Amino acid sequence: MGALARVRAGDEDAGVRQQARPIPLSGPFLDEREEELVLEVMRSGRLSLGPMVDRFEEAFAEKLGVPYAAAVSSGTAGLHLLCVAAGIEPGDEVITSPYSFAASANCFIYEGGVPVFADIDARTLNLRPDAVRAVITSRTKAIVPVDIYGYPCELDELRAIADEHGLALIQDSCEALGARYKGRALGTHGPSAVFAFYPNKQMTTGEGGIVTTHSEEEWRLLRSLRNQGRGDDGGWLEHVRLGFNYRLDDMSAALGLGQVEKLDEILARRAEVARIYGELLAAVDGVGLPLADDDDHERSWFVYVVALPDNATREHVISEFERRGIGFNRYLPSIHLQPYMRERYGFREGLCPVAEDLSSRTLALPFFTALERDAQEHVADVLGAALT
Ligand SMILES: Cc1ncc(COP(=O)(O)O)c(C=O)c1O
Repeated sequence: MGALARVRAGDEDAGVRQQARPIPLSGPFLDEREEELVLEVMRSGRLSLGPMVDRFEEAFAEKLGVPYAAAVSSGTAGLHLLCVAAGIEPGDEVITSPYSFAASANCFIYEGGVPVFADIDARTLNLRPDAVRAVITSRTKAIVPVDIYGYPCELDELRAIADEHGLALIQDSCEALGARYKGRALGTHGPSAVFAFYPNKQMTTGEGGIVTTHSEEEWRLLRSLRNQGRGDDGGWLEHVRLGFNYRLDDMSAALGLGQVEKLDEILARRAEVARIYGELLAAVDGVGLPLADDDDHERSWFVYVVALPDNATREHVISEFERRGIGFNRYLPSIHLQPYMRERYGFREGLCPVAEDLSSRTLALPFFTALERDAQEHVADVLGAALT
């Protein structure tokens, strides 16, 4: 096993492990291959706009089976660029999930889009297509569905709604690299999708993201937009459109290439960590486990989030986790109830009752690729004891 984060994240001394050492919430999975590739970039002197970004994009696109991939500086940047490409303008309404990370809504607010939240399905935690349909108006411009916690959204139904109403569909797959919908990897179905590579994600580039698209024209546009609006053939100081600096640098791309090379291993290990949690927690009363896969939905494991009976119970569990150095997070607060959302748009409790209820009682447990079984057993023991 390699050095670096594999050891930092999961290595424990036998016997004294859990009680003595904290168990982090998340951690990357890196080894000598990433070191080698980053070193290659450093020695090449091409730290930005070099060949490593192309190599990363090509390897990623091939791995997923998508025609085009454009690397960007973050998942948020990728979502923002798709909103620009979709032509979202001030006053346009965009429908998204309240049970997500704030960037799912921020990406179109940057362009003056107005957030409209539709409630989620309590089982999948993803947007309910009928709830989306119910909030469409003549001002609706786009839908941003999210594959939350790596569980695929109802893509076909949402795509049908978007087609029927002439709306853009921007898939926030930031948490779902490797997930499959109706037998095919997310990203391959058609709507442009965004994946994110913050270090808690399935694979990481430090900071970074990537947009997959089936359109060469859109791919060229994304490459221009991320690069200050430069054209394909123009010079360094010629800007053909309003652009951004959303480039991924070559050292980050090197990390990404190493991660793509071991993506199958990462996904398999994460699935095994999830399977073990499922086994350990099956008998614990009061713990709602993540939804199992079905024929149409195959999750890619991003986080392991359980549902507790209520907020007071969650806070009690959290105090026990804190006392014992177990990582956690209150995944995910409802976006519409964030302070800036209340202030800007006047959103209040009651808008999306299912999301709000789950936000008050769902909890992310420590979860990462190298998490070891004995640490998981300790987490399950502490959780079980807190609930009795
Ligand atoms: C659902 C979702 N959308 C968007 C993002 C934004 O990605 P980034 O942090 O790379 O900007 C994240 C990242 O946490 C996410 O979980």
